[in-house]
Amino acid sequence: MEVVIAAPEDLVALAAGAIESLLAAKPAAVLGLATGSSPLGIYDELVRRHLDGRVSFSRARAFMLDEYVGLPPDHPERYRNVIEQEIASRVDFAPDAVQGPDGLAEDVVAACAQYEAAIVEAGGVDLQILGIGTDGHVGFNEPGSSLASRTRIKTLTDQTRADNARFFDGDIDEVPRHCLTQGLATIMSARHIVLIAIGRAKAEAIHHLVEGPVSAMWPATILQHHPHVSVLVDPAAASRLQLADYFRSTYAAKPAWQGL
Ligand code: F6R
Repeated sequence: MEVVIAAPEDLVALAAGAIESLLAAKPAAVLGLATGSSPLGIYDELVRRHLDGRVSFSRARAFMLDEYVGLPPDHPERYRNVIEQEIASRVDFAPDAVQGPDGLAEDVVAACAQYEAAIVEAGGVDLQILGIGTDGHVGFNEPGSSLASRTRIKTLTDQTRADNARFFDGDIDEVPRHCLTQGLATIMSARHIVLIAIGRAKAEAIHHLVEGPVSAMWPATILQHHPHVSVLVDPAAASRLQLADYFRSTYAAKPAWQGL
């Protein structure tokens, strides 16, 4: 696990650079897309690089991490619509190249199994972008989630619903209770995971992710078992890391050729 502590604009450039390099080496790469506020700067930077002619998504595919259950097709906070607005419609993905779990499926169990199969059929995710919840969730794998979980329905915690109420005019009652989410084992199948966290509210979760024992109580800690994870944090999100000085000096001395 590599931890990079830097200003948000530098973190965004690093993540976008990793995606640009991946697509240059493998134009038909499979990306994993998160929603929420954390990846928005990365998406904006990718759009800029696309408009500059530096990166094309024309042969790429993408899989979303999660989706609310029951939001109507045209709801602006339905994650499929958020991803469309924030990245998919702004670059040159082919039609149907971006898929997400079907939060309106009648047969939820079958829809989740199909989603898992679609990821496998696409060859697996090459680079997964992640945010992290204040309670340590990744995707919507809330505390107590099985560390071996696959795509399934989950119940959001009150803390996550309160955190996300800002997207629903501040009204927690408008935040769905259920979601479909890639499981922790699904996320762990990605070949490279780039997690970005900005702000003090994420500091405790980042401390557990990097320095805590692996535990379903802090689901992101499963990433300690992954061979290629880049944790990109600003100084506020890094403020509880005991090893912060070590991470800073390691990154400062990192060979320029190495990339994320
Ligand atoms: C979103 C997702 C969540 C968010 C997390 C952080 O697809 O899977 O895990 O990444 O809730 O949300 P923000 O970035 O809004 O703080």
